[in-house]
Amino acid sequence: MDAVGPEARLWHAPGRVNLIGDHTDYQEGLCLPIAIDRDVVVAYRPRGDGRVIVSSLDLDGTVEVDAAGTDDPGGVEPRWGRVVAGVVRVLAQRGRPPVGIDAAVASTVPIGSGLSSSAAFEVAMAGALADAAGWPLTGLPLALAAQEAEHVGTGMPCGVMDQLASVCGRAGHALLIDCRSLEVEAIALPDALAVVVVHSGLPRALESSAYGQRRAACEATAARLGLVSLRDATPAQVADDPFARHVVSENERVGQFVAALRRHDLDTLGRLALESHRSLADDFAVSTRELDLLVALAVEGGAYGARLTGAGFGGCIVALVAASESEAMVGNVVDRYRARTGLEAVAFAVRAVDGAGPVTS
Ligand code: GLA
Repeated sequence: MDAVGPEARLWHAPGRVNLIGDHTDYQEGLCLPIAIDRDVVVAYRPRGDGRVIVSSLDLDGTVEVDAAGTDDPGGVEPRWGRVVAGVVRVLAQRGRPPVGIDAAVASTVPIGSGLSSSAAFEVAMAGALADAAGWPLTGLPLALAAQEAEHVGTGMPCGVMDQLASVCGRAGHALLIDCRSLEVEAIALPDALAVVVVHSGLPRALESSAYGQRRAACEATAARLGLVSLRDATPAQVADDPFARHVVSENERVGQFVAALRRHDLDTLGRLALESHRSLADDFAVSTRELDLLVALAVEGGAYGARLTGAGFGGCIVALVAASESEAMVGNVVDRYRARTGLEAVAFAVRAVDGAGPVTS
């Protein structure tokens, strides 16, 4: 981060892991992510010529775009710069004065793993650009701008869960997000519960994946039912439609999961996580052999339950484990996964942390 100079300011944004409620956010549904203790940090200082110049400690190349948002994000190289260009453009459209910055970015969120490295990057970049221009941007408007930057920058039609989780995170709490009202309620996590992420060792290729097709299919079903979204669909209405059936049943599970969290009923949390995984695998068809195997190994290794987390198609599972047993489970799952697949899983416990903001030391 020295590239930016000693007077650099810092903005950071955490990644997220979703405990339950996947592929519900873009149907005005419910989800329950936590912001995790892995983040993207942007070091920056304003520059006088209206240029936004960003280098990365993790990825090659330097990105340079005009602070007025005139560069077409789709044409920016290196590719990771499309996110930068998307953020710059969206903020410019919302009235940010076109102040340039020199910036360097570093991430401890594993990139492309389903832990929302991209959303964290968008939020941190937006926070840095807003601050450099003396243009306040926090809370829901920050999350919505970052979400739109993903649409504009990468073409991925994501919902709002990842960016809201990164902005609204609260230490020790999961976030119940109602994606219709955009209300966020913090729900305390029991101390006895450890949240363990296991990466399958296979990247998740979202933009080229079926994400957009799934979203379009859900929208078409809602329209056919005469509904704005599947949030209002009843189980009977979607009984013969596997994608919609997943969305409707997943919303129901989020409600049950929150109730179980409030009464510290860890067995029920585990059961609901497993039911969610089955629904994502069988009805929504976004799991992989490796993710299914990791879920089974986590349970064999003593987890209450586990499920794929995020969009699926590769990436990570999240396992719910007794805090006292999480270390043993991690070693056990990684070893047995290697023996079965030859792949190297990466497993680590995560803590729920506060959301994005300036880094003050
Ligand atoms: C990705 C998207 C989110 C959400 C999840 C699936 O992470 O960015 O908006 O749709 O997939 O729950």
